[in-house]
Amino acid sequence: MLAPCLLTLASFLLEAEGQMSSSFSRSLRRDGRCIYSFSVAGPAEDACSEPGEALAAVRELRSEREGQQRELAELADRLRLLESWVVRSQGQLSGQQGESLNILQRLQELERENRQLRAGHCPRIGRESRQGAQSLTGSSSRQRTQPDGRASSWSFENRGFQELKSEITEIPASSLIQRSDPGGQDTAPDSSVGCGMLEWVGDPVTFQKADSILGKYGVWMKDPEPVPHHTRDTIWRINTVGTDVRLLYEYNDMDQFVKGHPSKVYVLPEPVESTGSVIYRGSLYYQKRKSRTLLRYEMKTETILVQKDLTNAGYQGVYPYSWGGYTDIDFAVDEMGLWVIYSTHQAQGAIVISKLDPKTLQKEQTWTTTIRRRSVANSFMICGILYTLNSYSNRHAIINFAYNTNTNTSKVMNIPFENRYRYNCMTDYNPAEKKILAWDNFNMVMYDIRLSKL
Ligand SMILES: *[C@@H]1O[C@H](CO)[C@@H](O)[C@H](O)[C@H]1NC(C)=O
Repeated sequence: MLAPCLLTLASFLLEAEGQMSSSFSRSLRRDGRCIYSFSVAGPAEDACSEPGEALAAVRELRSEREGQQRELAELADRLRLLESWVVRSQGQLSGQQGESLNILQRLQELERENRQLRAGHCPRIGRESRQGAQSLTGSSSRQRTQPDGRASSWSFENRGFQELKSEITEIPASSLIQRSDPGGQDTAPDSSVGCGMLEWVGDPVTFQKADSILGKYGVWMKDPEPVPHHTRDTIWRINTVGTDVRLLYEYNDMDQFVKGHPSKVYVLPEPVESTGSVIYRGSLYYQKRKSRTLLRYEMKTETILVQKDLTNAGYQGVYPYSWGGYTDIDFAVDEMGLWVIYSTHQAQGAIVISKLDPKTLQKEQTWTTTIRRRSVANSFMICGILYTLNSYSNRHAIINFAYNTNTNTSKVMNIPFENRYRYNCMTDYNPAEKKILAWDNFNMVMYDIRLSKL
């Protein structure tokens, strides 16, 4: 029982860009007691503190954590305020541009406040005073527990900080591969122009950096098949931090997007779960919060046209990508159309891909792969081929696996992919531009790609 219990919650409370090489781990002993260990690498062995000093350091850490919790609670209160305000305004909105502007102003105020909070969000832990390691023994608890062994007095889930509950379990995806296809049958049908196998991904180009805690993770999108009055230049963005995510920002073009000037803000009738949404043919496709329900929200009419349960799909952290964050259900768009990437109990956590009818959200066809969904950081479709990314936090990640729905074959890949900001929570392909869009630690980035010729 020990192995599955061993979680490495690296950077649990440290900023992802933090340089600290510290780690926190939890394990369950046979007698049912939990052991929590916190360790920080010292420059040399003799630099490690005496047990007494280490205990003092642990005490200090504990009080720091309490401070952080207070700040997070305060932040969560502000988020709730923001959310309730948005919900209240929803009724008055009904397409009035003036109201939208008021909302924006109010949002900006709140974001400014949140930014101040964020400055103290994740204090660095001084290396000098805390070298050494110390184990703490606390009694086993069903509740989520703190590093110091106490049961949490508040739950991360309720606060909407999904990131904090993410567990890092980067199992090499290749270990699950049972077959590969060296025969090179991995080609897309002739019907899709310019299709091929992915063979190269360029360096990320950064377009926008979110300036508030609400932008730590999110999703930014373009429509490969826009309907009037939108164009291929139109950009949409959803900040997905919070418990009641409903705001969809629209920007006329990249210039306005970079300046942070939305042309419209939609208030979605149902809240959004995580970062799996896409825009396709004038609709936003997304997963309804705390459900396996897929929604099609048409922007022209500002209504939900279709609502459909994704049968058997795991949700709310049952089969998420390795960064967690309730990323259980991920839409994708490619040359072939609309897809959804998820997993089920029947598939034992392996990635399941369904091709969807974009009008009705009916499944057209379903494939079960051999790759565990929890072991990959993200995935996307190009020309009917699923690609998986092996890490969301390693700067030098690789696209390590491909599953071709045209031939039902899988293949081990080794294409370098840079997570420049070390916290990639969204990776989507845009078939109109033949580029990959990603959201990496507040940064909205884009990658050039190259496909092999047929
Ligand atoms: C691939 O798998 C799908 C779904 O199981 C099936 O419908 C299809 O016939 C298979 N295609 C090939 C080429 O084997």
